[in-house]
Formats: sequence, structure tokens, C-alpha cells
Amino acid sequence: MTTGKGTDWDDKFDIPGRVRFMEGVGDLPMININTEWSSAEVYLHGAHVTQFQKKGEEPLLFLSQVSRFAEGQAIRGGIPIILPWFGAREGLPMHGFARIKNWELREIVPSKDGAIGLRFQLPDSPEAGNFPPFTADYIVTVRDTLSLELIVTNKSADQELSLEDCLHTYFTVGDISAVSITGLKGVDYLDKVENFAKKTEAGDAIKISSEVDRVYMDTTAPTEIHDARLKRKIRIEKEGSASTVVWNPWIAKAQQMPDFGNEEYQRMVCVESGNVGKNKLTIGPGKSASLKVKLSSTTL
Ligand code: BG6
Repeated sequence: MTTGKGTDWDDKFDIPGRVRFMEGVGDLPMININTEWSSAEVYLHGAHVTQFQKKGEEPLLFLSQVSRFAEGQAIRGGIPIILPWFGAREGLPMHGFARIKNWELREIVPSKDGAIGLRFQLPDSPEAGNFPPFTADYIVTVRDTLSLELIVTNKSADQELSLEDCLHTYFTVGDISAVSITGLKGVDYLDKVENFAKKTEAGDAIKISSEVDRVYMDTTAPTEIHDARLKRKIRIEKEGSASTVVWNPWIAKAQQMPDFGNEEYQRMVCVESGNVGKNKLTIGPGKSASLKVKLSSTTL
């Protein structure tokens, strides 16, 4: 099924029992998806997946109880799309402008096997004028797993397009002290907590007991979050991504963030997949780059 552009949709695009258009928090337009295995919610604001939950399991994605849901502000939790830059840029929004734009819903694709696919496109905006012309499409596929694909296409005839992208996935965990993250042993990273000091991951498993903000470089490996409290293993598989970012703000930073509860650092961890810093993308004229992430979970 193909929808109209922009917010030019209403409940005539509903697929009874499977796809429902509704007003979400802050009256922002939201799409509720149900499959035989799972449910999900996606806001047009940022094309932001705020929820994915398998039947009989805790929510996979963490969403702050005090998140803002407002134009011009990023939602805290779920999956913010970081594009076309990662981190701070003087005078410009942190982590790029894609996460605070209202994306256009272009297509809804129900599969015979019961999966639901949604395709969004980033609208034109003045901020994009600082880059060669490009389009960004985002495909969200909901089944027993959650699959995400961000495709950036350089529309210029003669200029290279250089940018960063990242799917900033926030995961729910039972208790951060019972979590270990595997898949990054031997990988070099920049430690943002220590002024971008370059280090190498030594351990088989990363444990978090203080602020962690690390950009792992040149790694295409899948990662896993082992959660002994929720008795769950989350697997993050990726393609077209050379960077993995691991983030937990811990106590002091949590207290500084107005849209994040003081205790919420105990119930989340971000393991992000993208192409940032030295792994930034360079896309030739007329070419595309695809970043794919597949999230799955199993009971331990
Ligand atoms: C992480 C960065 O990806 O995102 C952190 O590495 C940053 O440095 C965090 O604090 C959250 O950013 P924001 O803009 O959503 O508060």
C-alpha cells in the first residue's frame, strides 16, 4: 500500500488489527503496528521507533518516562536517527537534524508472512542546504525481530557527499549491574569520558559501573547484550556500519539531562550502529549507502 506524502494521511490507511494511525504523546502523529509476534510504535517526528515489544517479553527498547514529545526536540529513547552528523556541531543541533524533522510516510508494505514494513523519507529542509543534495529513506520492518535500514543517496551529479549516520538504539535492561556486552573485544575505541582518549577493548565482555561513552571504530561485528536480570539476550546485527557506540550516562549526567529520569540509567544501555568519526561515509555522485540493523532477542 502506498500512502500520500507528508502528514497527508488518516485512518483510511489503517490495516485493521495490524496498522493504526493515531495521535501519540504530545499529539504527535504515530503509527501503531501489531504482528502475530510483536507490537511497535513509530512517530513521524524523527521517523522515530519508540517501542518494539515481542509478545510475552519486556519491551526491547527503552523510552524515558520524562521524554519530550515536541516539535524541534528529540525523543529520549527508542531509536533516534542520527544524520547527517554525529555529536555536537557549533550552532547546530546535536546529532544532526534528521531526528527532529517530520519524516514523510511513503509506503506501508504488509508481507504475506505477517511482517509489516514502513518506508519513510526525510523531507527537504534548509539545514540540508549545507550538503550536496541527498535523500534519506528509512525502512522499518516489524516481525519477531525489528529490522531497520537507512539509505542515503547522493543526488549530486558531480560532488561527493560526506556525512555521518547512526541508529542510536536505546535498549531496556533489568538492571545495568547485571548486564554485559560482548562482540567488541580487541576493537579500538575513543573514550569520550576521557577526552576522546584512544584505547583498545581488552575484555571479552563490557560491564558498566560508571559513565560509559565510547565510539568503537572499524568494527562490523554483531554485538550482544546479556541481561541476567531480565534473563534475556539481545543481539544487534548490522551491515554497512563500521562504528559501534556504547553509551550509559550514569548518575551525574542523568541528573543533568532534563528529559531523562535520575534513576533511569539503571534500566537502559545504548548500543548504536553507524558510521561516525573516522568511519564517516563518503558517497559518490549518484550512489547510495545503506545502513542495516537487525535486533533480535532470546530468553536465557
Ligand atoms: C551518544 C553520545 O551517542 O549520545 C553521547 O556518544 C551523548 O556523547 C548521547 O551524550 C546522547 O546525546 P543526546 O543529544 O541525545 O542527549
